Formats: sequence, structure tokens, C-alpha cells
Amino acid sequence: MKIAVFSAKKYDKEGFSQWADPSLQFHYIESRLNLEHLKLAQGCHAICAFVNDDLSAPVLEQMSVMGIEMVALRCAGFNNVDLDTAKALGIRIARVPAYSPEAVAEHTVAMMLTLNRKLHKAYNRVRDDNFALDGLLGFNMHGKTVGIIGTGRIGLATARILKGFGCKLLCYDIKPDPELAEHYTSLTALYQQSDIISLHCPLSPQSQYIINANSLNLMKEGVMLINTSRGALIDTKAVIDGLKNRKIGYLGLDVYEQEADIFFENLSEQMIDDEVFKRLLTFSNVLITGHQAFFTKEALQQISHITSENLLAYASGSFNGNELAN
Ligand code: NAI
Repeated sequence: MKIAVFSAKKYDKEGFSQWADPSLQFHYIESRLNLEHLKLAQGCHAICAFVNDDLSAPVLEQMSVMGIEMVALRCAGFNNVDLDTAKALGIRIARVPAYSPEAVAEHTVAMMLTLNRKLHKAYNRVRDDNFALDGLLGFNMHGKTVGIIGTGRIGLATARILKGFGCKLLCYDIKPDPELAEHYTSLTALYQQSDIISLHCPLSPQSQYIINANSLNLMKEGVMLINTSRGALIDTKAVIDGLKNRKIGYLGLDVYEQEADIFFENLSEQMIDDEVFKRLLTFSNVLITGHQAFFTKEALQQISHITSENLLAYASGSFNGNELAN
């Protein structure tokens, strides 16, 4: 079976080469998947896509015309897929639901600690022979209240780490997890009482802009907000206002609403034509990483392994539980 791997990077090729099955022939394409680049998959039987690849209705319809009936997502989130259209066209969509929740949880906590203890500033200061501590004052994580929105695999892994720090947890989820039963509260109480708020729910019509001017109004002055889930959970313009009026004291983002045009590429010699993103970078209490929370050796191994298994399951006409119910 020939598979067109879009948005392919060196580490994707290395990952798939470890699980090489002679029946899977990977055809690597550096471009992001969209209607224009889909033609590069001519002659392939399946597509392997990543977080910012476009799997909207027009792309899926054209895939169907080309005879491609399987998409193997090498990620957990699937907000970039029009599942209704895929279902109507009979295109099967598989994903990697839980390659390493700990990878994302650990990056989330790293962002909290970096912002709190201002490690991003300290790193530069020491390299400049500046050992003054002014402006580097942090706070103890122990005893602080952390609000976790979305307590699935990653939210739960984050909660477990923070419990170890001695944080008080407040959780919100539309489907509570028994392990965190005593911590659930309303979204309003979570906003009002949390010193740190971390987002771990998927992007959906219900969760889009869950952080907006109204929710920010309910939060404590100087709250720390962390988003390692999906950019559009946050109304970025409202968050910039929150930074300007000091409502937000710290902001950590691994994802950004318009990241598809920016992330995963070296743009250091180009102009970034995104005023909102540029404005975010002007605040010293904002830490942005380029969708790297998943990026550990262990996670990459799992991603390539499970994606290969998903493709082999499709090729043999079986179902291994990683398909989205569409
Ligand atoms: P999961 O499916 O295990 O958990 C998601 C949880 O969110 C579920 O418990 C669900 O009930 C809850 N939820 C759904 N809608 C909600 C809403 N409107 N309000 C509150 N809770 C809601 O997913 P998992 O594996 O924990 O991943 C979460 C998200 O993390 C993914 O959807 C993806 O967007 C993001 N992600 C980011 C990565 C990165 O590298 N930055 C890597 C992997 C995932």
C-alpha cells in the first residue's frame, strides 16, 4: 500500500523507518495537505496527515475522486477533519489517541515553572554575566490552586504531576474522571479561584473561545493561563487585552489559532505577517513554543508505531479501535 505522508519532517521518516513493514510504502511530501497539494498524492492508497493539514470537505471530496479512502492521522486531535463529510464519502479516519499524554503534561508543567521562575529571562541574563535577581521573583507552586479544563488523558497526567507538587486542584470536564472525583467544580468557580488555569479539552464548536473576555473577567488578577491543547480555545485578542490590563500575569502557549501559517517551519529569514502573533511576542510574561509539547523520543516512537498499525489494519480490512466513529 502506498501512503502519502504530508507535512513530513526528518523525524517522521526516521520514525516510520523503525517499523518498516514491506507492505507499507511511504511517500514523503514536505508540503502541508490542502486542495492544491493533494495532487502530490496521486497514485497513493492512503494519506498520513498531521495537526495542521487540511481535511475539510473540499479536500476529502477530491480525495474520494482520486480513490483515496483512508486517512491515518499521526496525532491525537482531529479538529482539522470534517468527520461528517468523511463518513458520507466512506473515507476511514484513524488517529493515535494516546501516544504519550505524559509528554504533553510534562511540557505543560515546564511552561508553568518557566513562567513562574522566569527561567527564560534568567537564561539570557546569566549568559550576559548579569547575576542580579531583580525581576526574577517567583512563587511556590505548593499550595497554589490550579484549574484544569478537560481531564482526559493529558489533563489527568497533568493533574497527577501537580498533585505531587502539593497544588490544590480544581477540575472541569463534561465527562468527569473518577480518579479526580473530589476536584470537580463549575467552570465559574474554577475561573474565580484558580491561580493557574491549564487547558486540556479538545477544540470543538462547544469549546472554541472558551477563554474569552467574559471568562477572563471572572479570573483572579495576575492569573497564569497555559494552553497546550489547540489555539482556538482562546480568543487571542481578548487575551492580549487581558495582558495589557494585567488581568493575565503569565501566558504560556504551545498552540496558536493561526499556527498553521507559522509553526513547524524556520521562518527566521522571513517576515511573519501576523500582527496578533507579533503583539504576543512583545510581552515578557508570554512564553510561546511552536507546538512541541508532544515532541519526545517516546512519543515519536509511539506515533509512528501506532500509525503503522492503523495503516496495516486498514490494509487487512480489520478495525483496531483507533478509528474515529464516523
Ligand atoms: P482526551 O480525549 O483523552 O481528553 C479530552 C477531555 O476533554 C475529555 O475528558 C473530554 O470529556 C473533555 N472535554 C471535551 N469537550 C469539553 C468541553 N467543552 N469542556 C470541558 N471538557 C471537555 O484527549 P487528550 O489526549 O487528553 O488530548 C487533549 C487535547 O490535547 C487534544 O484534543 C489535542 O487538541 C491536544 N494535544 C496537544 C498536543 C501538543 O503537542 N500540544 C499533543 C496531543 C494533544
